[in-house]
Amino acid sequence: MIKFRDIRINYGDFTAIDGLNLNINKGEFFTFLGPSGCGKTTTLRALAGFISPAGGTIEVNGKDITGVPVEKRKIGIVFQSYALFPSMNVFENIAFGMRVLKLDKKIIAEKVRAVAKKIDLSDSQLLRNVSELSGGQQQRVALARAIVMKPEILCLDEPLSNLDAKLRLGLRGELKRLQRDLGITTLYVTHDQEEALTLSDRIAVFNKGKIEQVGTPDEIYNHSTTEFVCDFIGDINRLPPALVEKAAIQSGKKPEAGKRGFIRVERLSIAPTPRCKVYFPGIVTDREYYGLYIKYTFQVEDTLLKCLEKNDGSPFLNTGDERNLYFCIDDIMLI
Ligand SMILES: Nc1ncnc2c1ncn2[C@@H]1O[C@H](COP(=O)(O)OP(=O)(O)O)[C@@H](O)[C@H]1O
Ligand SMILES: [Mg+2]
Repeated sequence: MIKFRDIRINYGDFTAIDGLNLNINKGEFFTFLGPSGCGKTTTLRALAGFISPAGGTIEVNGKDITGVPVEKRKIGIVFQSYALFPSMNVFENIAFGMRVLKLDKKIIAEKVRAVAKKIDLSDSQLLRNVSELSGGQQQRVALARAIVMKPEILCLDEPLSNLDAKLRLGLRGELKRLQRDLGITTLYVTHDQEEALTLSDRIAVFNKGKIEQVGTPDEIYNHSTTEFVCDFIGDINRLPPALVEKAAIQSGKKPEAGKRGFIRVERLSIAPTPRCKVYFPGIVTDREYYGLYIKYTFQVEDTLLKCLEKNDGSPFLNTGDERNLYFCIDDIMLI
């Protein structure tokens, strides 16, 4: 439905986006994930029409929209910083776009009420001034203002980043439900890997103005194709070639020369399973207590490897304890 073709975006001499190609499907919850400054917002703003690319085209439903003005693009946007009109009440904020289009007053009122109901804003809250609302409520208003216009595409740029942790989790769940309800194609920008993994149908991982990998949350997490993606998403162990080779030999596989291995911390365990029979002998050098799990550091030859164990009541291991670290050969990502 949305196609970015060879998009290049410059700020003066600086190239922020360099040859970006991406296809987003209708109805998808699609996330741009990456560290601050990698070009997520820039790409989103180009889609919305606030920025003109120096090269390439953006298509929506097969039509080139690269030169179409912002107000003709049918794209709803919610920013990190709410960007509400401070002098208006909640109702007026949500109604703003429809008033600009000079819709009938009764229809506007109906639509505002309907959308407010969807996102849990009460009738009395509609009459409050937006400055009296909490951050979470303001972000609901911003969301209502965007979806009341029935956009074809909804763009959300770090909409939860200014909220505290608990509220962020709650609103995240609501956002997902709302998106499923509406079935609206959604582009979501975040630097938070957990948000990306829990919300998205697919994710594009950005790094320095380029896309490193596109895939489902599980593909990105368990089948990372670049070192950057391995590192940026989740906690990972690096295996030097010697250990990669040892693991391969033990499992009866042919070692792949010249590749570096990466394995997620939760894919190493001190207990063998039918799936995980290959092991490295190691010595415990550190233990961190996380409540839900314990994170151990093991020394295996010259390498420190971390592993997570469920905090299931088993006695803790201590520094100096010798154990085998078991894993499945297929869980090593070779890059
Ligand atoms: N208006 C601007 N003028 C100059 N450089 C900018 C401007 N906006 C963003 N940049 C630069 O472009 C790069 C990408 O920025 P941005 O898209 O905002 O990243 P992200 O949203 O991933 O944090 C950064 O290096 C940033 O400093
Ligand atoms: Mg940004």
